[in-house]
Amino acid sequence: MTISSAPGKVYLFGEHAVVYGEPAVPCAIERRATVTVERRSDNHIRVEARDLSLDGFTVEYTGDTEHRPDVDVPTALVDAAMGYVDAAVEQARDAADMPDAGFDIIVESDIPLGAGLGSSAAVVVAGIDAATRELNTPLDCREVARRAYNAEYDVQDGQASRADTFCSAMGGVVYVEGDECRRMTAPNLPFVIGFDGGAGDTGELVAGVRRLRSEYDFAAKTVGSIGEIVRQGETLLQNANPETTPGQALLTELGQFMDFDHGLLEALGVSSRTLDNMVWAAREAGAYGAKLTGAGGGGCIVALDETPETETALEYTAECHDVFRAELDRTGVRVEEN
Ligand code: MEV
Repeated sequence: MTISSAPGKVYLFGEHAVVYGEPAVPCAIERRATVTVERRSDNHIRVEARDLSLDGFTVEYTGDTEHRPDVDVPTALVDAAMGYVDAAVEQARDAADMPDAGFDIIVESDIPLGAGLGSSAAVVVAGIDAATRELNTPLDCREVARRAYNAEYDVQDGQASRADTFCSAMGGVVYVEGDECRRMTAPNLPFVIGFDGGAGDTGELVAGVRRLRSEYDFAAKTVGSIGEIVRQGETLLQNANPETTPGQALLTELGQFMDFDHGLLEALGVSSRTLDNMVWAAREAGAYGAKLTGAGGGGCIVALDETPETETALEYTAECHDVFRAELDRTGVRVEEN
């Protein structure tokens, strides 16, 4: 039996624009998905999803996605969770050159599904790591990231960047621009996350931005402006001392860039009333800046505030279902038990 875990993430800047080759800076956070994998003697896959912010379910099938099981939960939920697990299994089988390997898999996660915190990337990354180790073919983090990207790309019909999967595999703060993916040095930022209890449909939201961008020059320029924000934000972070607590000047400027980024994402149609209300609650409470994180449409916002004010304000915001502080997680995928 092998157990691996991988972190979720928030986007400091750059979601959506990163799909078109602009840069993004996602940051891994200390909320993890954990995947337990045990080799079976047949070619079946049995998956138990214990907590994906949905009711747990258990399914067993022959490892062939054509033959989906009959289970008593809505098909869309099973498809959403299983699609990523299937894709991770396929990548592990391919890496080990064992196309018929069967597994018992348990997925546990404290990252809400589809809420902009990189739950699917974390499940895919941890799943590939655990399954390849179980097949005695351990991969290095970069190869796990590469294969996890391939898996997400397949599940999301090509509408995926390398950002989520690279960040989850490597941990810390990363910079992604097209195929260029690298870790950055950065200080620990005082992230506060507000969650509206909902989720967005990444595929639909990405497709909406793609349509706007190809139809209107101003929308294409908006995407380019997000890239500009990311480049300037990256320079700020590179010049900061990673060993010390970030000072007010840095936080003020980063916060201003986050506000700007949120405004452009809103213009591109990927925010929502609940996300906007949480963003405004955070700003009014004195956060340095606040923006949606991930695909949008619902889910989470991220704010910067080292005081308790933003947390308190979000607790009293009707649209906010949950609020928590998130520490930067400098460890990416890791094996918990082998
Ligand atoms: C989703 O977490 C982030 C998007 O930029 C899509 C992607 O990068 O694959 C919207």
